[in-house]
Amino acid sequence: MNLLFSEEHEMMRKMVRDFAETEITPYIDKMEAGMFPKEVLKKMAEIGLMGITIPEKYGGAGMDFTSYIIAIHELSRVSATIGVILSVHSSVGTNPILYFGTEEQKQKYIPKLASGEYLGAFCLTEPSAGSDAANQKTKATRKNDHYIINGSKVFITNGGEADTYIIFAVTNPEAGKEGISAFIVEKDTPGLIIGKDEHKMGLRGSRTVQLTFEDMKVPTENLLGNEGQGFKIAMANLDVGRIGIAAQSLGIAEAALEKSVEYSKQRVQFGKPIAAQQGVGFKLADIATQVEAAKLLVYRSANLQTEGFPCKSEASMAKLFSSRTAVETTTEAIQIFGGYGYTEDYPVERYFRDAKITEIYEGTSEIQKLVISKQL
Ligand code: CAA
Repeated sequence: MNLLFSEEHEMMRKMVRDFAETEITPYIDKMEAGMFPKEVLKKMAEIGLMGITIPEKYGGAGMDFTSYIIAIHELSRVSATIGVILSVHSSVGTNPILYFGTEEQKQKYIPKLASGEYLGAFCLTEPSAGSDAANQKTKATRKNDHYIINGSKVFITNGGEADTYIIFAVTNPEAGKEGISAFIVEKDTPGLIIGKDEHKMGLRGSRTVQLTFEDMKVPTENLLGNEGQGFKIAMANLDVGRIGIAAQSLGIAEAALEKSVEYSKQRVQFGKPIAAQQGVGFKLADIATQVEAAKLLVYRSANLQTEGFPCKSEASMAKLFSSRTAVETTTEAIQIFGGYGYTEDYPVERYFRDAKITEIYEGTSEIQKLVISKQL
């Protein structure tokens, strides 16, 4: 009996797993070579994966949050690159408009984001505002019916590919974090300059860029929420976004565990499979236990969000534990594979490179501890 998932959830899992294995696997090498997976995203859009939790009246699939987390988990088991593109597009690229936008903004942007015609991005991080996200230097000055925005952002996932950018900027420098506002900015806005592409250790098919705003003119109707509400909009959507990154970490860890079990059953040393050597068997037992615990934390927090309960701590706990599990499991996977694990002939080195960022983005592990301890 499955206590965590309904029959619909299990159908969703099977559908996404089949899709990922059949449709994403052929693109892995191209993504590793740096190709942004537009064709994969198009196929995902065709089966409704770009707007899983968006209500049907805005063109989404109208499914629950747990279904979305199942999708991120299963996609990331095959490709963590696809996992992060979808997670950023959905949780912090689209949801701020759904939860804080005017009806007009929702009508204008959500159906396009939900159908995959548009890709979303989220622009909070700046050169001097990483963990200290409230230390924003980007400024927005109101002039009649528009704002003039100047500043820069770094590490913007989906940057350069996205059609809409949720941008945070200071509208009242005297008001601290209550002086930050959020804006919806379209990709062709004059003054929006796509800068350097980061060459990353992992997630090589996802784009991460710097952005500069030079006298970027944004109409007042693109202010998201009220002036000064920006930081709360960022925090509220990051809370939930973190469950997505926890699910991405879980997918990476599970893939590493599966490959390690498979390999250690067929790799023979000292006359028997290494799985039957206690040193390896105990490693497998440890990582399997960690993966199971991560799974419970991820789906427990997803379930709270699905049922409408607060889950700030639970989301941070899931992200903290699951990202650590991804790093530890992929490290052990390479050890189990030995020299072969260090080569590109097996996928475990990719899992290892993809795992590390999960302890850094959408709030470092240290920030998760800050959030959890503050709640305590
Ligand atoms: N819903 C509604 N409001 C919320 C909320 C929620 N879930 N969570 C927080 N808020 C509100 C709070 O109530 C508070 O409002 P009041 O001042 O009126 O009480 C306001 O938002 C600020 O919240 P906190 O006081 O808790 O915030 P803080 O200043 O203590 O936050 C911090 C400090 C937690 C360290 C925060 O700066 C932070 O999260 N830093 C990390 C930044 C981060 O995660 N960046 C990720 C970038 S995006 C990314 O990585 C995407 C990618 O590419 C994958």
